[in-house]
Amino acid sequence: MEDSRTKEEASAAVDAELAKAIMARQFSPSLIGTEAWEGYKFSDLEIRIKESTDLYGAVLWPSAMVLCHFLETNRDKYNLMDKNVIELGAGTGLVTIVSSLLGARVTSTDLPDVLGNLRYNVMRNTKDRCRYIPAVTELIWGQEVEQRFPRATHCFDYILAADVVYSHPYLDELMDTFDYLCQENTQILWAMRFRLDPENSFVDRFQQRFHMEQLYNLPSLSIKLYRAWRKDRRTKDQGEAAA
Ligand SMILES: C[S@@+](CC[C@H](N)C(=O)[O-])C[C@H]1O[C@@H](n2cnc3c(N)ncnc32)[C@H](O)[C@@H]1O
Repeated sequence: MEDSRTKEEASAAVDAELAKAIMARQFSPSLIGTEAWEGYKFSDLEIRIKESTDLYGAVLWPSAMVLCHFLETNRDKYNLMDKNVIELGAGTGLVTIVSSLLGARVTSTDLPDVLGNLRYNVMRNTKDRCRYIPAVTELIWGQEVEQRFPRATHCFDYILAADVVYSHPYLDELMDTFDYLCQENTQILWAMRFRLDPENSFVDRFQQRFHMEQLYNLPSLSIKLYRAWRKDRRTKDQGEAAA
């Protein structure tokens, strides 16, 4: 009994410390200028993010900070230098920006309405700072993914996603998009905010197709970070060819 309480206390302390370190990445501008922005510190650089409150994708969600913190503090093990990366549901672009600063060749994707603000944030924070200029482009989950990202020319080392699972009606399409883009050697790094039941059942269904490893558990933020990779370790094309 006492042992389990000590373990609980220890994991609560780890959670609190990690959550504090992640949240400390954010700062507010000291002077109010003509344009509103939120500040973040990653890779020893100041990142300025413009938000707008009318769209989900125009607000920065804490899961993005969790994923960025992980990428920066684990850059030896998950080295993004020269890696091909795609971000799904990039929103205001923090994950795209940080992975570009860490040397990745990033394709940043989201719904058409979100792309203007996303492109603005990405360009403003990566110009003359990155090895590769990130590409910002439309990807509506489940729609024309094969035409837009043919496997013959698009092979990703990492798929990054922050807070893309919530009670929207496109969870099946999102699952299929992960499935299509995740090839044999692709790793998915996915920060997930738990709110309601649909999120839990998505994880259960996700586990039918992918192996999952929990990298962070942050109950104080209701966020978990996962690494995932294909169970079959064979792309559909190879499977079809072998059949
Ligand atoms: C909760 S926001 C998270 C944004 C960003 N990743 C972050 O953590 O700050 C969810 C993102 O998913 C995008 N999204 C929602 N439905 C989508 C769909 N059907 N296809 C592509 N993107 C979608 C939204 O536009 C939004 O940017």
